[in-house]
Amino acid sequence: MTSPKPAFPLDNAPDQDDKLSSRIPGFHNLPIEERRGIILRAMRMETDAGLNIGGFGDLSAELINVFIENGVGTYSLPLGIATNFTINGEDVLIPMAVEETSVVAAASHGAKMIRAGGGFRTSSTDPIGTGQIQLYPDPGVDFHSLLERERGELLAWANQGQDRLLARGGGARNLSWRFIEPLQSLVIHIDVDTRDAMGANLINTVCERLARNIQQLIPCRMGLRILTNLCDKRIAKAHCKVPKDSLGYGDYSGPDVVERIEKAYLFAAHDIYRAATHNKGVMNGIDPVVIATGNDWRAAEAGAHAYACRNGIYQPMTRWWKNEEGDLEGEIELPMALGTVGGVTTLHPGSKAALRLLGNPCAQRLAEIVVAVGLGQNLSALRALTCEGIQSGHMRLHQGNLELSAGQKP
Ligand code: MEV
Repeated sequence: MTSPKPAFPLDNAPDQDDKLSSRIPGFHNLPIEERRGIILRAMRMETDAGLNIGGFGDLSAELINVFIENGVGTYSLPLGIATNFTINGEDVLIPMAVEETSVVAAASHGAKMIRAGGGFRTSSTDPIGTGQIQLYPDPGVDFHSLLERERGELLAWANQGQDRLLARGGGARNLSWRFIEPLQSLVIHIDVDTRDAMGANLINTVCERLARNIQQLIPCRMGLRILTNLCDKRIAKAHCKVPKDSLGYGDYSGPDVVERIEKAYLFAAHDIYRAATHNKGVMNGIDPVVIATGNDWRAAEAGAHAYACRNGIYQPMTRWWKNEEGDLEGEIELPMALGTVGGVTTLHPGSKAALRLLGNPCAQRLAEIVVAVGLGQNLSALRALTCEGIQSGHMRLHQGNLELSAGQKP
């Protein structure tokens, strides 16, 4: 293993093949301009060249009008960089757009503890989103036989007009259906590999078009045609092993902290009130990266919480346990519909810069990075909660906020 460089010397941009190290000790103490300089070098850039790293995300009036209706301006969020992440053996600096004090510091701290055990290991499924076509078949129609007979034809119809997607290796993959007895309603699911697009518009278009073909096949009254945000065929996973020795804190020994964190996880697994807060902490890591990369965080939230409830009980999104060596292991598994091409991701100067900082990942790699950040964030929160408590560190970082607000009129 090559030893990582401690940081980017400010007067010496790294060569093309220089390995990036996400360990930048003292980064938080540097003046903001110096932090920007380091990040530009990490992006292999001399200047921000229109990528807007300084004003990260400022939008022109033209883009505001392209993105939404009735636009009058922008609403800014701070953008921070979480350090210490190593994912599948590769270091990566994480852009996070978030207003909450201590989130970026906690993500960096979680990643540092996990780094001591070799970092995150991640994996993901193909980027397959699912659309729903809901209908009310006329009484007595044998929709099952009709759908079985026409399955191939329906998939071909779904792919019509999707030449660019097909050329990129995507397209409709599968058709399935179920009947909701109390509603006497048939729901047809169409799975579409959307490659590097988030795919919401694409799937909705496929659903609306395919619904017309289905209506010719099955006498019915048509219901809704829309994607599901519970995209449970588009899963990203992360796993980590944290050596007990890297978890010790003050009077709390490493082995003690391992047990405390395992118990904190079990609390969330047995108590929905705690599970909600546990998962809020996970999303503290996930949402800021989703936002920074121009993705739809409401979709990420909806999918993650529905998946947490997939067994009928709302469960924690992460799992922590003590392994046979007495070290801590953790894992996360979530649906994550993210895009790295198209729409806001391609047009927004901030998301272009964020994606570049992440090494211009494909959608699957981005989903893996995002869930890894959620896992690291959760570790950091649990480590603080089970030892000194969350407030001392949080309030220390929050001090500037308090001082400024004291001067403001309510
Ligand atoms: C605060 O934003 C997040 C935490 O409440 C998460 C948790 O309790 O696990 C600290």
